[in-house]
Amino acid sequence: MDQLKRQAAARALEEVREGMQLGLGTGSTAKHFVELLGERVAAGLKVIGVPTSEATRLDAIRCGVKLTTLDEIDHLDMTVDGADEIDPDFNLIKGGGGALLREKIVAAASDRMIVIADDSKWVPTLGKFPLPIEVIPFGLGATRRAIEKAFAACGVSGQMAVRKAKDGHVFVTDGGHWIVDAQLGRIVDPPSLAKALSAIPGVVEHGLFIGLASSAVLAGGEGIRVIER
Ligand code: A5P
Repeated sequence: MDQLKRQAAARALEEVREGMQLGLGTGSTAKHFVELLGERVAAGLKVIGVPTSEATRLDAIRCGVKLTTLDEIDHLDMTVDGADEIDPDFNLIKGGGGALLREKIVAAASDRMIVIADDSKWVPTLGKFPLPIEVIPFGLGATRRAIEKAFAACGVSGQMAVRKAKDGHVFVTDGGHWIVDAQLGRIVDPPSLAKALSAIPGVVEHGLFIGLASSAVLAGGEGIRVIER
């Protein structure tokens, strides 16, 4: 599996050009991309990156990739990031690694978003992977009830759980928020659910990425597929 992730990352690297301003994703697949990009930088390629998490920021520094922020530059040419699920309309579930907020800000600031993944992430319908919803701890009970109402209005339901870190404590995002993971099984209308969740005051962001991905590089046993939206 890790080999497939690296192959997808290597294929996306072929799209990188001299002087590009790049969004650098988070997760095990995006980590391969950062490492391979670092090799190209060491060989003389000049690019600059905006990391989508503290973990990626540290990886990029370790790999010698020069970094900037969205305050210093006005757009990104391309973001390369992983995903937890991709459907045929290029709707995504992201946030398995907890970086969905910065990932979405960076993707939205990019001219293109290339999703890199092993082909098990390509699914007919989103929802088997629990949907991460980043929330403010204050008033969480009210936020959960509002989320349940949004689910019902969008024809879905399922258990919600506050994400825990490996040490058993509540997982805290880079932005200082918590994540609620919702087991929905099947999300019939991802754009409507995305809109309904975004309207809830205690929801900072959610893992549904709608209209952001422009292509997917999927690596599988049969080789690599590049699918354009
Ligand atoms: C990080 O928050 C996520 O959005 C990741 O991009 C996603 O979970 C995919 O991760 P892997 O590449 O590790 O499968």
